[in-house]
Amino acid sequence: MLAVGKLGIGLVSRCPWHRCHRSLTKLSVQEALSSHSENTKKVKIQGWVRSVRAQKEVLFLHINDGSSLQNLQIVAEPSLQHSSIRFGSAVEVSGALVRSVGTKQSVEVKAEDIRVIGECDTTDFPFKIKERHPPEYVRQFPHLRCRTNTFGSLLRIRSAATAAIHEFFRNNDYVHIHTPIITSNDCEGAGELFQVQTGSKNPAPGDDGGFFGIPAFLTVSGQLHLEVMSGAFKKVFTFGPTFRAENSQGRRHLAEFYMVEAEVSFTENLEDIMKVMEDLFKTTTSSLLDKCAEDLALFFKYVSPGQKERCEKLIANKFIVMSYTEAIEILQKAPVTFQYSTEWGCDLQTEHEKYLVKHCGDFPVFVVNYPYDLKPFYARDNEDGPRHTVSAVDLLVPGIGELFGGSLREERLHILQSRLDRLGLANTYQWYLDLRRFGSVPHGGFGMGFERYLQCILGVDNIRDVIPFPRYPYSCLL
Ligand code: 4AD
Ligand code: MG
Repeated sequence: MLAVGKLGIGLVSRCPWHRCHRSLTKLSVQEALSSHSENTKKVKIQGWVRSVRAQKEVLFLHINDGSSLQNLQIVAEPSLQHSSIRFGSAVEVSGALVRSVGTKQSVEVKAEDIRVIGECDTTDFPFKIKERHPPEYVRQFPHLRCRTNTFGSLLRIRSAATAAIHEFFRNNDYVHIHTPIITSNDCEGAGELFQVQTGSKNPAPGDDGGFFGIPAFLTVSGQLHLEVMSGAFKKVFTFGPTFRAENSQGRRHLAEFYMVEAEVSFTENLEDIMKVMEDLFKTTTSSLLDKCAEDLALFFKYVSPGQKERCEKLIANKFIVMSYTEAIEILQKAPVTFQYSTEWGCDLQTEHEKYLVKHCGDFPVFVVNYPYDLKPFYARDNEDGPRHTVSAVDLLVPGIGELFGGSLREERLHILQSRLDRLGLANTYQWYLDLRRFGSVPHGGFGMGFERYLQCILGVDNIRDVIPFPRYPYSCLL
């Protein structure tokens, strides 16, 4: 086995250093930090240098390997000092894990050997030691920003939130479905589609119809595929990348984002769907507050002071519910001038959503029963009038506005058929109509924007700072 690095480790089997270090326990920084053993342990730690402090008699290093926000302190004889041990360089430290005499950490490693695996050219490295860089600056380096403390914490929180969401659904007996990324449907009917084509060097098998013989797109939602599954499974969910060709530079829009979607069969009540939405939000948030306290504390201290108390308030109280009609009445009575119309029938814009959330005491609010013409063909007709509505719901949250969108689905064949006929979509959606022919049941579901959820919990202003590699108009770096 050949290892890499300027100062090279060489062939392991021939390396005397490696032979004598085989008895070392390899630990992550997190494992080392949480070690409670009173006995000295011989360990090997690998990571990147976050700080170097050379004193006359002793060399202090702090290293990090992504497993925790906290760094591990390494204490070494000055003889182990080497010019390539610098901020950003990758190192492997062997030594004794001992109780620390310092007050800032409980353990430290007394180094017997420090090997530099990869040097770092600090003159060109864009991040400076101990400096807090503004997000707009950090965003310019999508290939390096995971090395900053804030982005490191974000990525650990994102990973924990993904696991908590899967756990929520598993604990509630949902079946996870991998819905396709390439699809021939436009679920939302908004035309915000990215079309999939082969590159010019790979001629498509079908001449005009392209690779698939029909137009194909990146999915805007896995809902219709979940609805297929909800004809055989009472509870299903999906959680994957979703694409929208929305020409928006806004702070809550991405061209590629992750959506959590669920579908529940044998449900006649929008409240049942809203309960799942609220439970998902609260359970995931409680889990994060419990499991990611240290990483969250960084956000609560430097990015969004006061956010911890706001999060605790979000999970402690029941979300508010109001109808679209009530929302419009509130907006019409508002002592502010909105840029967009507040007539009954108009779509709620960000400015309206923000006002409604403020009106509710900066607290989440479900808005239910939207005008028929505002929602896609699948939303269940309330058959009311003259203000004709559907059983659809959006959850609006502080700092973001719309976080979830959901509805009961139209399960009655004749009503769905006539709506699709009017839209000229009946041929396209024969298979969807089939679902209403063969054992149709009342059902409903929702989608939650995962990045907007993270923004809401962390108090992060721009959605581009909660996803590893953001895609938006004129930007597809890496
Ligand atoms: O409201 P939307 O469009 O609903 C649907 O797609 C439904 N088919 C979901 C379902 O019922 N299964 O999208 C759901 C959520 C929004 O509330 C928002 O949080 C997020 O997805 N979202 C976006 N997030 C980031 N960037 C964008 N461009 C987004 N568009 C929607
Ligand atoms: Mg929506």
